[in-house]
Amino acid sequence: MNQVEILVLDFGSQYTQLIARRLREYGVYTEIVPYFEKLEDIKARAPKGIILSGGPASVYEEGAYKPDSGVFALGVPVLGICYGMQYIADFFGGSVVRAEEQEFGKAELEIIQAKGVLEGIKNKSIVWMSHADKVEKIPEGFVELAKSGNTHYCAIADFERKIYAIQYHPEVVHSECGGEMLKNFAVNICGAKTSWNMHNFAESEIAKLREIAKDGKVLCAVSGGVDSSVVATLLYRAIGERVIPVFVDHGLLRADEREAVEAMFRENLGVPLITVDAREIFLGKLKGVRDPEVKRKIIGETFIEVFEAEAKKHNANGEIKFLAQGTLYPDVIESVSVKGPSKTIKSHHNVGGLPDWMKFELIEPLRELFKDEVRALGRELGMPESMLMRHPFPGPGLAIRIMGEVNEEDLELLRRADRIFLQELHSSGYYDKVWQAFCVLLNVKSVGVMGDNRTYDNTICVRAVEALDGMTATFAHLPHDLLERISNRIINEVEGINRVVYDITSKPPGTIEWE
Ligand code: XMP
Repeated sequence: MNQVEILVLDFGSQYTQLIARRLREYGVYTEIVPYFEKLEDIKARAPKGIILSGGPASVYEEGAYKPDSGVFALGVPVLGICYGMQYIADFFGGSVVRAEEQEFGKAELEIIQAKGVLEGIKNKSIVWMSHADKVEKIPEGFVELAKSGNTHYCAIADFERKIYAIQYHPEVVHSECGGEMLKNFAVNICGAKTSWNMHNFAESEIAKLREIAKDGKVLCAVSGGVDSSVVATLLYRAIGERVIPVFVDHGLLRADEREAVEAMFRENLGVPLITVDAREIFLGKLKGVRDPEVKRKIIGETFIEVFEAEAKKHNANGEIKFLAQGTLYPDVIESVSVKGPSKTIKSHHNVGGLPDWMKFELIEPLRELFKDEVRALGRELGMPESMLMRHPFPGPGLAIRIMGEVNEEDLELLRRADRIFLQELHSSGYYDKVWQAFCVLLNVKSVGVMGDNRTYDNTICVRAVEALDGMTATFAHLPHDLLERISNRIINEVEGINRVVYDITSKPPGTIEWE
């Protein structure tokens, strides 16, 4: 088990996990706990420093989230970020008010004293702000370290008590020197060790998995995507043939996907894969269902039904207790509030979509990681690049790429268009340049003219996005001649489609998938 160096108390910011992730980039082992974690439990972990995250609440509101104030008496340095700063200011007798000019987005950091967290940080670097409240008066014993155009107190410190507070988010990539500031806190101020790396992570996860599974079997949900393939590989390393990787064909797969996944497992991993054909069950249950969240819940539940039925076939030596999945941090943060009070965006099928009646205990070794970290872990495990660089494909599959009800006919239409799009991306070299690319069937019909005849057919939306971790994304600037070729081919080769549109929405405000 890794000794935690820095402990983050989570007040519900969408960015909390990014703090841990930035510190991991510097080799500092960091864990996240909810803001209400008990003081004894915090003490028991013996962190060298504590970070109070941001969060959506206001510190002056009734019922505002407050940690056990004993954290300031533990004798380790504390850093407050955004809400964390406002909490510190309020707690030590300063004041926090609603800002007249709120700040969302970029700001320039004017350094007053390049000390502590700001040691060695250049003046006027860009930082990312996202706040409606601000500190109006700083508490006694604190000094100013930096300000910005709209926010007087951007960074403050009480050097004696080793308490630091910053209003901006150093953890997001848009904060130019943010990583260095976090490193200053963890390494220079707290004296955290920088020995964590993917190799240690793989070793400790394999050891944990052995410990959890004991001598039992583990069913592993495989989708063909990088996440579940990495989980299957980790488990295979940990418990060998006692892992049972199950790939469910729910009838919502892309063209040729089933064969591709089977071949990938056979040729690359040597892990014996079981494919369950559950097309009729899933499509039967989705009949007549139009609501995106209902579709997601039905798919999540049906997956579990299928896995439980499959588990019964392998339980010669008693029950299979565990189901392993490739859930990542962005799935968790957007689905449910697990560690802090964050808002639900959509129910990712492997998190929010699971039924209460499920008997399995879940094993989710990647739950704290982001996609690019999972790819790094896969490399550590010696998995081939062709597997690691596959685009993500959502568990609910094409069901969330067909607006409204899902049926065989529309699935086929979508598959045919999607196959052309992917072929063109591969042949133009753009597949590897984008995070994800797919077609969406809008179920919107429009009038066209083809060969002197009027058509009244379906519209396909083409979506390609660039992203680092899927939490934010921008639409890909694909060349116009490529888009033209894709549009021509789809309309000419797929009967029933007479219009192709390109989605130019980023995330936020959109999400990557349409449902
Ligand atoms: P959104 O649409 O939430 O997608 O911006 C972010 C990333 O997550 C993928 N995604 C899912 N993956 N189960 C999954 O395994 C799901 O239910 C699910 N929903 C979205 C999506 O494809 C994108 O990469």
